Amino acid sequence: MIIAIDGPAASGKGTLGRRIAEILGYHYLDTGLLYRALARDLMAGDIDFDDETAVVCAARKLDVDGLGDPGLRAPGIGEAASIVAKNMHARNALLEFQREFAAQSPGAVLDGRDIGTIVCPEARVKIFVTASPEERARRRHLELEQSNSQLSFNDVLQDIERRDKRDRGRTVAPLVRSEDAHLLETTDLDIETALNAALAIIRDETGRSDL
Ligand code: CDP
Repeated sequence: MIIAIDGPAASGKGTLGRRIAEILGYHYLDTGLLYRALARDLMAGDIDFDDETAVVCAARKLDVDGLGDPGLRAPGIGEAASIVAKNMHARNALLEFQREFAAQSPGAVLDGRDIGTIVCPEARVKIFVTASPEERARRRHLELEQSNSQLSFNDVLQDIERRDKRDRGRTVAPLVRSEDAHLLETTDLDIETALNAALAIIRDETGRSDL
């Protein structure tokens, strides 16, 4: 079974996805890390983001076992990731890995921007997680402070708003709620309440009464 979790920047998709996967005993993939790792590799190799051949080559060579690198969470990498994520060829090169990951037994939870629309349109449960930009910036700022970032709340808010605009406005796989996705609005919810709401959606959709 596949569970697709999409939503804008810093909406809490990752925390929810990881916790849901733990509870269900499923595999978990934060697909944003693929775009972040690709952006990091392109910058390290001084590769032009518009150089199609080189970008596809880097996407195919991506070290998917190294996605735990904490450096990938840096805001500069997120910005670069959203630029490379506009590239259709880069996206296509990452599709197969995501679909193979999703097909694993006993199931998988994937989070991103286009999981319910493009990567796994057949997902059994789709959840679109949102929160106001200010609340998302507050959460991300808090997270970044713990890793000694010097960025102000306004810097973080601007980063989030800029990326959302780019992610929503791109022609390929834009950030959009799939018609059959459940909306989970978390501005006023703490993580435990949001998790319980997500589990209730999964319970209703799948009939798993143990959740
Ligand atoms: O963690 P956060 O929500 O800030 O970002 P992320 O999920 O790590 O994604 C970083 C960037 O990768 C996004 O701004 C998107 O442009 C891109 N992305 C995408 O295009 N498609 C996905 N499935 C996941 C991420």
